[in-house]
Amino acid sequence: MTNHGQKIIVFGKNGQVGQELQRAILSGKNNHTYDECLFLGRDDIDLTNSEALSTRLLQESPAAIINAAAYTAVDKAETEPEIAMAVNAKAPEIMALYAQEQKIPFIHISTDYVFNGTKTSSYTENDPIAPINIYGKSKAEGETAIMATHAPAVILRTSWVYAQKGNNFIHTMLRLGQERETLNIVSDQIGAPTNAADIALAILHILPQIQHKQDSMIQPELYHMSANGYGSWHEFAQLIFSEAEKHGIKVPLNVGEIPSSAYPTPATRPLNSRLDCTLIEKEYGVSLPHWKDSAIKCITTILENQNQEKVISA
Ligand SMILES: NC(=O)c1ccc[n+]([C@@H]2O[C@H](COP(=O)([O-])OP(=O)(O)OC[C@H]3O[C@@H](n4cnc5c(N)ncnc54)[C@H](OP(=O)(O)O)[C@@H]3O)[C@@H](O)[C@H]2O)c1
Repeated sequence: MTNHGQKIIVFGKNGQVGQELQRAILSGKNNHTYDECLFLGRDDIDLTNSEALSTRLLQESPAAIINAAAYTAVDKAETEPEIAMAVNAKAPEIMALYAQEQKIPFIHISTDYVFNGTKTSSYTENDPIAPINIYGKSKAEGETAIMATHAPAVILRTSWVYAQKGNNFIHTMLRLGQERETLNIVSDQIGAPTNAADIALAILHILPQIQHKQDSMIQPELYHMSANGYGSWHEFAQLIFSEAEKHGIKVPLNVGEIPSSAYPTPATRPLNSRLDCTLIEKEYGVSLPHWKDSAIKCITTILENQNQEKVISA
């Protein structure tokens, strides 16, 4: 089936996943049958404005929606709950209702932060949600609102997202590594650091499958989709510094381990962020690479780009 003249809308074009979706789609790494992609960022549409969002959807009349936009400032959300709710709960609900009315595929991204992190093994899709911070609550409300519709929608819960570009743990570690001789990193939070590029490719693998079966989809589906394996933030930092060292970049002399209690933040984070991703593999044939393999690729690209920039400016 080819949808000539039909377009996909991607919200969140400047975010980590949004940029990787653009990269993948523009480089032809997709097998969907839509012939136009419209990437929208905050400048094009402010997702706190429900009316503007509804109007824009009607104007554009998309044949599929991918929502990679979110209010992701976890600590700031504690003092801006209304904005977090508007972007993470209300906007996805409007998108899902549109998808329901028009019977078009809708892919939305959610988070491990819908859980409280007290489980001692990986979380499955059947585990009850119990968010412990405002960001998690807002994302949980978004999920619930979508699940209450009959849209041909797929929600993908992922974890600890990083990318070549963006405000993320890799860039923070590389910067702090230059500035400090000793760094103490939280080691009692575990999860799977997930490359936005892998999420983007998976979304583009899943979309045509939803398109294919959308007439028989009577309710939205929810899946866990993060990188294989797991580690702590401390292990992630160690990997970043070992790769940085190979590229001749200065790293701290000591990278110590601390508990979350020694690094208080406005928002509490779940200690266990492990997601069991068995179901998405069974249903959509998606299995993301091991977190270390993907992280090494991303770190290497970041460091090579930095070296190139240095050569150009020298
Ligand atoms: N980052 C993580 O560690 C993580 C972990 C688990 C799940 N997730 C989920 O994965 C998805 C993608 O995350 P990401 O890391 O790619 O996020 P990101 O880099 O923070 O990008 C989010 C995008 O949403 C846009 N946005 C925020 N508020 C908006 C508003 N009011 N109107 C329009 N656009 C708005 C931002 O625009 P600006 O660029 O203008 O700010 C940004 O480009 C999200 O659903 C997130 O909840 C992320």
